[in-house]
This record gives sequence, structure tokens and C-alpha cells, in this order.
Amino acid sequence: MLSLVSCIGRVVVLSAAVLVTTSITMSGEWGEEGVMYGQLGKDVTLQCAGGSPGSVLEWRRNGAPVLPEDAAVQQGQLLLPRAELSSEGIYSCHDARGLLLSSVTLRLGRLPGVPSVSCRASNYENFSCFWTPSTDTFLPTRYITTYRKKFRPGDERRRSQSSDEGLCLLDPAHPHSCTVSKAQFWSSYRMNVTEMNPLGSSCRLLDFTVQAILKPDPPEGLRVEPVPSAPRRLRVSWEYPSTWPNEPHFQLKFRLQYRPVMHSSWSMVETANVSELITDAFMGLEHVVQVSARDFLDAGSWSEWSHEAWGMPTLGQTMAPSEVATAAIEPESPAEEPSLAPNNEPVAGHSDPLEKVAVLVSLGVFAFFVLAVILVFAFLMWIRMKKHSKEATKNHDLLSATIHMKALPKAQIL
Ligand SMILES: *[C@@H]1O[C@H](CO)[C@@H](O)[C@H](O)[C@H]1NC(C)=O
Ligand SMILES: *[C@@H]1O[C@H](CO)[C@@H](O)[C@H](O)[C@H]1NC(C)=O
Ligand SMILES: *[C@@H]1O[C@H](CO)[C@@H](O)[C@H](O)[C@H]1NC(C)=O
Repeated sequence: MLSLVSCIGRVVVLSAAVLVTTSITMSGEWGEEGVMYGQLGKDVTLQCAGGSPGSVLEWRRNGAPVLPEDAAVQQGQLLLPRAELSSEGIYSCHDARGLLLSSVTLRLGRLPGVPSVSCRASNYENFSCFWTPSTDTFLPTRYITTYRKKFRPGDERRRSQSSDEGLCLLDPAHPHSCTVSKAQFWSSYRMNVTEMNPLGSSCRLLDFTVQAILKPDPPEGLRVEPVPSAPRRLRVSWEYPSTWPNEPHFQLKFRLQYRPVMHSSWSMVETANVSELITDAFMGLEHVVQVSARDFLDAGSWSEWSHEAWGMPTLGQTMAPSEVATAAIEPESPAEEPSLAPNNEPVAGHSDPLEKVAVLVSLGVFAFFVLAVILVFAFLMWIRMKKHSKEATKNHDLLSATIHMKALPKAQIL
């Protein structure tokens, strides 16, 4: 299951801290020398480094003594109330003779928002996470992406292993994504995607198991071919997605959807095979086919549909001499109904298990009735026998009483 948590507490603490320090963060770790970062909409105060307190100072912006409208100089500091993007620039302070004391580049932006994150495994070995920032911050931004494997209470002893925590490696080719390799299919993971900029950081936590986020890539190499002299059939074949490792323990199943090009509703069929025979195609019509894949044991979700492939059944009636020979071997004629197809055809195989189940069910019901009749009969017999034996004991008691009375002296009876 997926669950989301965001580390809002950290942002609140940070923004409070930033407020106190008048929204300014010095650069350094952000790579640009002489840059100060301020928060949009907050009051920003610039100090004049190198200016002695009490001395007369002049502030300039981009070399000119024209400052933003409501800027104010207080005790040598430059105050920019409720800074806007238009207040950005290179600010410099000068002494009374106009000599440059220091200068700073002011950049304004916002605190990072909590990014929205989703993770997906296209196979059972590796998974990737993708995120989108929720706020346009206007500032240089970095992401720290880590994971931690979570354990059930009984698993304490495995907690120390170093592979239980790690970096989700950023993918230089795909910004805003990272990959964890050699993931454990049955484990729970907690992802932490932290967005950082000079003003603060904000993180999103995401809990999931790899099986829940499994979504294979679509199957590849889809082909649709007519079946010689079968005007209602199309043979469709495809391959496993190349990102799915070949391993007998992790198989895929597939679903196929197809329709005549001019129709809008799809027919659908599911199979574990990498080929399928459509037996209810429309003669002489172009058909469009797509296939998608899912873990054989229903983990995760279905892949996206593959690209479309097109095909048309043979027109059937006219048979070339070479096809006559094939037709003689295959007990199949153009007029034949799909239900008469030989048993080894996959589609005929679809109805087979159903029939078997039906037969099994009716056999079971029959056996149940027979058993019930036998039980009822046995019960009746038992009741009867019990009655018999009761009557027998009763007779016996009566008899012994009479004997007893006979044995007593007459005087006692009277
Ligand atoms: C999983 O990631 C590792 C390391 O990046 C890579 O060697 C391997 O091929 C990947 N496995 C699959 C199935 O893509
Ligand atoms: C998420 O990762 C960031 C950066 O590594 C870290 O500072 C933060 O404490 C982590 N948050 C949680 C809840 O683990
Ligand atoms: C899978 O397809 C192959 C070739 O198309 C066929 O020989 C085989 O019987 C099919 N298997 C099943 C289980 O349908």
C-alpha cells in the first residue's frame, strides 16, 4: 500500500528561523559567491559589510543610486519591505566619498514546497521514483532522495544491515527521478524526497512495497497475421518487455484488446502465452490490436497498452493450390464456426476449463445428495433400533417387577 507523509514540521521551523533573520541566507554551499537569498513577500534587510557604524552611507542598485520605491536606509542598513521579484539586483554600499565598501547580489524566491512523488517498478529488481515540485521557488534547488527498508516488529535483528538504508540514485538523464537497484520485491520501503533551496527544505515521505508499485512496461514486437484460409481468424504474437528479466519465477500474463478499425468497442481476452488466436474477427476488415502485461500473480497493476498493430483476416474463399494442401491437413474450412476449432487451439482451450469446472461442480452436487440420502437413511435406522431396544428394556423391567411381586409373601402384598 502507498501512503504519503510530508515533513511540514521542518518547513515551519525553518520558515520561522528565516523570518527572524529577515529572510536572508548567505550563499556559499549554493555555489554563487556574493549572493544573498531572500524570501519573496518578506522584509529583507541588507547590511553593509565594511561600513563603520554611524558613518554616512549611500546605497546603490545596479550601480545607480535609484532604489526600489519603498526602500529605506536605517542606521546604514537597507530595508526592502515585502520584497518582490523586481527588487532583485546587485546592491552596493558606498562611503561619503562614493568609494565602494561592499556589494551583494540579491536573489528572491520562495521556500520549497512539498514535492509530489510517485514510484514505480517496471520489474521486480529495480524501482524508480519521480517527483514534481509543488512550488515555483525561482531559486537554485537540490534534491536529496533516500530510502529506508521497513521491518515488521519480529525482524529486529536484521535492522543493522547497511543495505537497509541508502541513496536513491539521481538519474542525470531524467531530471526529477531516481532509481533504487536490487530492491527486495517483498519488502516495504520508505522513500524520502527532500527538496532543498537556500531558504530551507521540505520533504515528502512515501511508504510502499515493491510489489504494490509494480507496473511492467508494455509488451514489445506486437504482430498481427492472417491465418491462411481462415477468414475469421487472426494470429497475434508479441514479446516480453525488454525491461523484464527472464526468470521462471516471475512470469507475466497478458491481455489483448482488438476491434475492427471502424468500430469503437474493444473485445478483450486474457492469456499467459505470448501469442493468441483471435477467432471472431470480421472477414475482410482491418483490425487494430493492442496488448498489455501484468505480473502473473496480480501484483501491482497492468502496463500501459502497447503500440497498435493492424491486420486483416484472409478473404478466404479463393484458395491457392498450396493452401488447399494446408487446408486438408488442418480440419478447418472457410465456413467453419470458431467453436468447431480443434481442441489444441488456445481459444478452444479457454472454454475447456469452464466445462471441466461445470462437470466437477455437478459431480460434487450429485455426491452431496447421495451422501445426504445415506445419512438420513442411517439416522432413521438408528432411531428405529433405539426405539426397539427401549421397548425391550421396558418389557424386561415389567417382567422382573411381576416376578418380584410373585416372590413376596401374600400377606405383604395385601
Ligand atoms: C537493475 O539495476 C542494476 C543496476 O543499475 C542493473 O545492472 C540491472 O540491469 C537492472 N535490472 C533490470 C532488470 O533492469
Ligand atoms: C528526509 O531526508 C532529509 C535529507 O536527508 C533529512 O534531513 C530528513 O530528516 C529526512 N526526514 C525523515 C522524516 O526521515
Ligand atoms: C502458447 O502458444 C504456442 C504457440 O503459439 C502454443 O504451441 C502453445 O500451445 C500455447 N500454450 C498455451 C498454454 O496456450
